[in-house]
Amino acid sequence: MSRPNIKIDLPRLSGELELLARLSDAEPPAVTRILFTEPDLQARAFFRGLFADAGLVVREDPAGNLFARWIGSEPNWPALGTGSHTDAIPFSGMYDGTVGVLGGLEAIRALQRSGWKPRRSIELLLFTSEEPTRFGIGCIGSRLLSGSLSPESAAVLKDNIGATFDEVRRRAGCSGELSAVQLREGSYAAFVELHIEQGPLLEQEGIPIGAVTAIAAPAALRVRLEGEGGHAGAVLMPQRKDALCAAAEIVLAVEKAARDSGRLDTVATTGICQVHPGACNSIPSRVILEIDIRDTDLAARDRAVELVRQAVAQGAARRGLDAGVERINADPPATADPAIVNAIQFACRELNLACKMMVSRAYHDSLFMARLCLTGMIFIPCRAGVSHRPDEYSSPDAIGRGVEVLALTLAELDRAE
Ligand code: GLV
Ligand code: MN
Ligand code: MN
Repeated sequence: MSRPNIKIDLPRLSGELELLARLSDAEPPAVTRILFTEPDLQARAFFRGLFADAGLVVREDPAGNLFARWIGSEPNWPALGTGSHTDAIPFSGMYDGTVGVLGGLEAIRALQRSGWKPRRSIELLLFTSEEPTRFGIGCIGSRLLSGSLSPESAAVLKDNIGATFDEVRRRAGCSGELSAVQLREGSYAAFVELHIEQGPLLEQEGIPIGAVTAIAAPAALRVRLEGEGGHAGAVLMPQRKDALCAAAEIVLAVEKAARDSGRLDTVATTGICQVHPGACNSIPSRVILEIDIRDTDLAARDRAVELVRQAVAQGAARRGLDAGVERINADPPATADPAIVNAIQFACRELNLACKMMVSRAYHDSLFMARLCLTGMIFIPCRAGVSHRPDEYSSPDAIGRGVEVLALTLAELDRAE
């Protein structure tokens, strides 16, 4: 069949993005939508309605991953997957992940409107908890789908009030066993995720589309520091074992590990610091830090992780503290499949859009889908590269172009044997 004539319904798509942004625990323009909280459950219900309107067949797995399938004329062939996440970290913006789910849906609707019919089924995925906010580890849904996280380990993940993933997902209505989540190989022929760049390059270079060639390797550590609490007035300085002072040194060592790596690609962030007991007249007795370390190169990422581990050991020893480092995750990078990159480039040529080959420094569910099938990502520009902030913004035109490229990429992948 010739190339479908794609017409994106931008007003509808923009309206849906706005509606979704209102399902949030933060005041607009900020968005907070944490796994299996009320706004997340409302967002899931919102999507079920949209999927039904589009005539898609919906399934939810025991981890809460949602699948909406447009059945092709060859329903037994491996499907083409697209999609992303709709959870949002505290006080973030309205485009991260959501563009890939609502944009993926609009790509399917535009293909349907064009009269084109797929041979392979096209399945839209809404992944559970791409963000690590609630359970400390990101991409829970896609890790389980790809067999990268065992069902047993997922079940016992704890949130900050000690509720396990297993309890929380069951309370949210996800029944069945987590062991049933992993997909068999051959479920998908390919997976393509549309996402905002979350960096400045496309905007700076005036290029509308990025074709991702690789996703950088993320790692996360949880550091526990146990010192000695006491009265902020009565305990004299030589007697102190202040856990927060040790934590402060470690935070700086995290920054230094990345800054001194000799590579622009090494980044390291301490994003969480919990202080116990948290009173200004009480010496901090216990601190938990959560640290995120990434690089496009695995060995460089691991060197930075090692430097942080050493800083914790040395800092704790110097101050007479007890310390522990738990590795939350340390994932290898992923490479996009050339066949997917070619299909994205083909779509861009058909649409007369420039396309930049680029790496993704953020992680995505594609990092894990790449373990299951041929995977690629389409990036679109976002204003000043801002993301994970309320002022995150991608224009309707930029989103529309990304959706067109996604739709044509899916059609092109369907044409391939
Ligand atoms: C995903 O949100 C990431 O932190 O890269
Ligand atoms: Mn994110
Ligand atoms: Mn994202």
